[in-house]
Amino acid sequence: MIVYFNGQYIPKEQVVISPDDRGFLLADGTYEVVRIYRGKPYRIKDHLDRFAESLSKIRINFPNPHVFESITEELIRLNGLENAEAALYIQITRGVAPRRHPFPDPSTPPTVYATVYPVKPDTAKWESGVNVILTPDIRWSRCDIKSVSLLANVLAAQEASEQGAEEAVFVRNGFITEGTHTNVCAVFGGEVWTHPAGEFILGGITRESVRELCQQAGIGFVEKPIPYDRFLKADEAFLLGTTTEIMPVVEVNGKKIGTGRRGTVAKKLQELFFEMTHS
Ligand code: PDD
Repeated sequence: MIVYFNGQYIPKEQVVISPDDRGFLLADGTYEVVRIYRGKPYRIKDHLDRFAESLSKIRINFPNPHVFESITEELIRLNGLENAEAALYIQITRGVAPRRHPFPDPSTPPTVYATVYPVKPDTAKWESGVNVILTPDIRWSRCDIKSVSLLANVLAAQEASEQGAEEAVFVRNGFITEGTHTNVCAVFGGEVWTHPAGEFILGGITRESVRELCQQAGIGFVEKPIPYDRFLKADEAFLLGTTTEIMPVVEVNGKKIGTGRRGTVAKKLQELFFEMTHS
């Protein structure tokens, strides 16, 4: 696998990251994940706009994140993924410096890494749906930043995994925020509800796609926090994310949601999403 590392295209095995990298020592960095459908990155401009925002919010100076458009094309070519189902991962950290909490000298170059790799979506689950657990949202209050500091997400995802669930859904002050790596929607009376964008969720690109698809299909899209007890009584629920796409939720904490099967709104949106990503 050929990857991009600090300006060079090299075999992944040849990447050397310093133990003094602030990404390693302090999780001082940000990342993006972009889905590649049949060799074509999906909404990469939107992902890179969000990447630029995250970089600016954490004050890492990286003047043109949109350079990853051509880097991605090159990575797809170098790895022979021109027609493949794949994903792009990009990460930038605040670089290598002796461990101190404040920023290092401004001349310190950021560490820049990008890789593309094949993915095999679990399409059976898009039909069968998955179960999730609810867990307290113990994260910080800047979830809009796509930070590599994901410890709370990791612990919650592990809790889900140990309980045989696909995802853990966070609850903050009694309201559903999002999953460990997904946004969360519920359907009430034919309308799709999801937590408003802001500092308590990551503003997902899939969420934006679904907003547009709802508009197109005449389905209401309501950005309001959902009380967790109301969520349990939703007609349907689903998760949204770059690699997850639109994943029906059929069980929460071991109890059925709606009919306990994929709902009609989820199915409709999945069909429209497929058309959108494969046209
Ligand atoms: N996760 N919320 C969180 C906390 C996420 O980490 C993600 C994405 C999303 C969905 O955003 P998008 O639709 O732009 O992928 C919501 C990525 C895929 C990950 O960490 O692997």
